[in-house]
Amino acid sequence: MAATDLERFSNEEKRNLSLGGHVGFDSLPDQLVSKSVTQGFSFNILCVGETGIGKSTLMNTLFNTTFETEEASHYESAVRLRPRTYDLQESNVHLKLTIVDAVGFGDQINKDESYRPIVEYIDTQFENYLQEELKIRRSLFDYHDTRIHVCLYFITPTGHSLKSLDLVTMKKLDSKVNIIPIIAKADTISKSELHKFKIKIMSELVSNGVQIYQFPTDDEAVAEINSVMNAHLPFAVVGSTEEVKVGNKLVRARQYPWGVVQVENESHCDFVKLREMLIRVNMEDLREQTHTRHYELYRRCKLEEMGFKDTDPDSQPFSLQETYETKRKEFLGELQRKEEEMRQMFVNKVKETEAELKEKERELHEKFEHLKRIHQEEKRKVEEKRKELEEEMNAFNRRKVAVETLQSQSLQATSQQPLKKDKDKKNFFSLPSAYSITTGRYVN
Ligand code: GTP
Ligand code: MG
Repeated sequence: MAATDLERFSNEEKRNLSLGGHVGFDSLPDQLVSKSVTQGFSFNILCVGETGIGKSTLMNTLFNTTFETEEASHYESAVRLRPRTYDLQESNVHLKLTIVDAVGFGDQINKDESYRPIVEYIDTQFENYLQEELKIRRSLFDYHDTRIHVCLYFITPTGHSLKSLDLVTMKKLDSKVNIIPIIAKADTISKSELHKFKIKIMSELVSNGVQIYQFPTDDEAVAEINSVMNAHLPFAVVGSTEEVKVGNKLVRARQYPWGVVQVENESHCDFVKLREMLIRVNMEDLREQTHTRHYELYRRCKLEEMGFKDTDPDSQPFSLQETYETKRKEFLGELQRKEEEMRQMFVNKVKETEAELKEKERELHEKFEHLKRIHQEEKRKVEEKRKELEEEMNAFNRRKVAVETLQSQSLQATSQQPLKKDKDKKNFFSLPSAYSITTGRYVN
């Protein structure tokens, strides 16, 4: 097809045609439903709230079952996230439900870092999904999506105001997850106090710029109920799995000496509103918002951080391939620069070591020469001494010969004159008996 034809074709307006009879693509929504039902759904709830605020009880009440629970201690050194996944089934719909508890939240003396493990957990789930998406062989169809779809933030029913921990944590989370604030244990606060408390909480959230999840009002079918429910936030809830007989009906309630608080009675608390909004009306919107808003933001930031862009500096479209090539070139250039730097560093180091070695060699040579001179001097002295001693030895030997000659002569004379005087004898025996090398004389 020529370029002009192509242009004309793409510029052509779409025309509405009527069908001659039933074709069958009106079954597409049914096909989608059937496919989704077969595939099953996943829904992940994060519960953030102080230890013992009623998180597990509310989850049990919401899903009308008993999830495994474990009381948290108040002595956790830091907040830790504990996910638990359950397979639930209602009619023919399978739900893979993950409940993540922020264990130890609000128990540390220093709460500055309390939000961090929660943010890290949410990011890790996004990262896992992104890694799966970036794989060559992706299996998103049966991938267990662990991204958090909603964060139920449990507010302590003080009747005063939000704690700074609540504000800081919600602020840190609001761009990452759909937050639904709820006032827990609402049976412990009076009706008028609760009314004021709700207004106070909402004004504090607004003044601190905390974005909570708003039930969507763009779909006509749910716009009305959702906008009414938005005005009821935060929901004040009561949780209980205990059944109490009211009239002739068994209802879930909390029984007190002065009366019974019915969980599903809308004039007692907002539990029904929460269940309606969270599960029956907006569960799919929560899943969608997670994917299109929060995950999209994470993905965009992450890819930008990695250097990927949609446009080049001249605002021209820039494909992933081009970005990859540019990045690759940048990387190779950097690698080459580093290699050159290392090589230069190595050459310098070798030169330095060579100079050091030469200096050491010179020093050693000097030392050797010095020792050699000393040695020669010593040798010369020893030689002189040896000569002196030899001379002395010769002199001694000469004298010794002379003495021996003298002795033999005197012995001969004595044998001829046997009767010699004592004086002569004495003289003979008083001949020198030792020769001193140092003085060069004979001593007695
Ligand atoms: P950890 O997991 O240990 O942090 O506790 P949790 O937040 O899961 O609280 P849990 O549901 O275990 O409830 C703690 C206590 O609060 C239990 O004794 C519950 O019966 C009680 N409780 C739970 N919900 C409510 C409520 O709505 N009102 C009142 N008054 N008590 C509640
Ligand atoms: Mg619990």
